Amino acid sequence: MEYVEYFRKFPDAYAKVVGGFDRKRTLTAYLLESGVLDGAASVLSIGPGDGAVEVELMRKSNLHLGFVEPSKLFYDQCLAGIKAAGFEERITEACNASFQDYESSESYDVVLSLFSWFALGFDRDMLEKALRCVKPGGRLLICIQAESSPSTLISAASRSDGISLTSEALSRWASEEGFAHRYEVYHGLVPAEQYLDDGGLTEAGRDLVSFISATLWEDIPSALKQTALKAMQDANDGTHIDLAGGCLIFDA
Ligand SMILES: C[S@@+](CC[C@H](N)C(=O)[O-])C[C@H]1O[C@@H](n2cnc3c(N)ncnc32)[C@H](O)[C@@H]1O
Repeated sequence: MEYVEYFRKFPDAYAKVVGGFDRKRTLTAYLLESGVLDGAASVLSIGPGDGAVEVELMRKSNLHLGFVEPSKLFYDQCLAGIKAAGFEERITEACNASFQDYESSESYDVVLSLFSWFALGFDRDMLEKALRCVKPGGRLLICIQAESSPSTLISAASRSDGISLTSEALSRWASEEGFAHRYEVYHGLVPAEQYLDDGGLTEAGRDLVSFISATLWEDIPSALKQTALKAMQDANDGTHIDLAGGCLIFDA
């Protein structure tokens, strides 16, 4: 199943599981506190999904935003969210297209790909294209699941193609290709009880595993259920599970 098709097919499941990640709070805090947006007046988001993080960033700053989102559903949600928050005048461009098909004469202080580089992978042309969208002195940040995230083990067994990319693998590849960058970890901390209860997975935990593996819970092989449970248990520090992301930061 193609990645975009996957999100089109399961939008409700996506909204449910991604809401549980609490990215709006944790990822926005990371982006604002890490300094990556310091001095930035404009941001391009590649694959904003429902745009929750982007709206929150706009709320907490004066940023102008452009976005490119291939899913019509997410494109509409993102646009509606920005309008509902009263930030419509700060939209520089809204493109209902894949990044591959995106064409623009705009450039941005910061380009963000938040958990969307799965769709672009080890593609030199796409990385160069993303860097061309950055103004001189600006930066590109690509954040994607880290090896330590329990979602990595589960997505390795997913029926959905192309979602097993990790930040470490992307960072190694980018270095080998000669793209200098910094690497930072974003901690997506979720309360452990959201996914784990006495010896098993909660309903939200099962939803997450089903979603990432693109398989109804009852159809998931028991070996994968065990792998998923162990991945969640191993990632539990006693209070939280860290759906960690690695962030590659390229200066333009
Ligand atoms: C895992 S979601 C992440 C959404 C949001 N950035 C977040 O962190 O919650 C991946 C997003 O990338 C989008 N996407 C998929 N293929 C894409 C492509 N070729 N170009 C740009 N975005 C893409 C999907 O439609 C989806 O909105």
